[in-house]
Amino acid sequence: MGIVISLLNHKGGVGKTTSAINIGAAFVELGKKVLLIDLDPQANLTISLGIPRQKSTIYEALRGESELVPYTHKPNFDIVTSSLDLSGAEMELINEAGREFILRELIGQVSDDYDYIIIDCPPSLSLLTLNALTSSRYILIPLQTEFLAVQGLAKIKQVIDKVKFRLNKQIEIGGVIATMYDSRRVLNREVVETIHKYFGEKVYKTYIRENVALAEAPAQRKDIFDYNPKSSGAQDYLELSREILSRIESDVSPTPLESRELEA
Ligand SMILES: Nc1ncnc2c1ncn2[C@@H]1O[C@H](COP(=O)(O)OP(=O)(O)O)[C@@H](O)[C@H]1O
Ligand SMILES: [Mg+2]
Repeated sequence: MGIVISLLNHKGGVGKTTSAINIGAAFVELGKKVLLIDLDPQANLTISLGIPRQKSTIYEALRGESELVPYTHKPNFDIVTSSLDLSGAEMELINEAGREFILRELIGQVSDDYDYIIIDCPPSLSLLTLNALTSSRYILIPLQTEFLAVQGLAKIKQVIDKVKFRLNKQIEIGGVIATMYDSRRVLNREVVETIHKYFGEKVYKTYIRENVALAEAPAQRKDIFDYNPKSSGAQDYLELSREILSRIESDVSPTPLESRELEA
């Protein structure tokens, strides 16, 4: 059964999509089979990988018109695409019974085909995001190392706590990713200190440095390993992904299935 990870931060422009793509691609480099799910109506992930318009996107699946239909981007790297239509899903699903669990059910049908399923969340704490949270074992929070990075984090923690209490006991903050880091800037260093004070050892040791190749790769419709495997962006995402995997693999808390058995 694949392990589900969501990239979450209701701020835009903090590196969610860049991290979803490049952690996913790094996992593939490290021998894992990965499914990315683009859950953002802006479809930045889908567009960044140059995936043509699919007949069935996450939108059709959430509406119950199809199952998840993954598109194979390269070996061991599949994507469920998004489309602008998804912006209407919120309203359309509002009266649906069990609306917080639709994605979880859909993922359950394909989960055995993958080692990891990575969800790129929209920049909001909406029903779509809630669907990601009920589906996820681990939440990764990317934070841009800029002024106000930690502003609003209390809200994220609060939402995760509520979801854990009411909807998904297995959810954990897997870790916090410092993005767009530039060690020459005093401000960046100060913000990283603040992030450490707030999240302690949850902060991954590998910071993602500011790197122009990471911003250029989407224009070439590539992940960083296909675009420029020697860039600092590729190095950082590979190192970070090793850290994420080793933290997950040493996590001894019960998997969702085991804990369901324990409860039974
Ligand atoms: N480490 C980085 N160095 C340089 N540019 C980056 C880096 N990470 C992300 N970017 C750029 O910053 C912008 C916002 O990143 P994105 O991943 O789309 O954020 P989000 O999904 O949170 O809105 C994008 O243009 C992206 O290419
Ligand atoms: Mg995004």
